[in-house]
Amino acid sequence: MACLGGGSLVALLLEGCASGSKMVNGTIVESNLQIPVSDFQTSNGHFHQYLVVRHEQLKFPICVYRFSETSYDALYMRCPHQGAELQVFGDRLQCPAHGSEFDDKGVVKTGPADTNLRTFPVSINKDQLLISLK
Ligand code: FES
Repeated sequence: MACLGGGSLVALLLEGCASGSKMVNGTIVESNLQIPVSDFQTSNGHFHQYLVVRHEQLKFPICVYRFSETSYDALYMRCPHQGAELQVFGDRLQCPAHGSEFDDKGVVKTGPADTNLRTFPVSINKDQLLISLK
């Protein structure tokens, strides 16, 4: 798909920023999408503000924000307006289709979307972050 190339380029451009994003592939175990907690660590000892997690069985990626060692939010990157894939910019997700905006909790800030993003419960088991897809 053409959008994959663009997405990778954005990821590369943001790699240089300590608090920027990173794309990772999760694994699905039972009903959880899993990623190692260590994926949030950057090479210089800081932490990514968020990760964009993909899996071939998911139609849209999930954006996982890290607020602290034990506090995360997982947001489905599908716009509730008409279903376009959202883009992440810092603590905001934006829709390229008609401009809706959401904060890092998935709360709609700018329409035309009028509902919040779908969220998933996040838990930690040893060194794995579990995103419940139930
Ligand atoms: S599909 Fe996202 S604002 Fe319309």
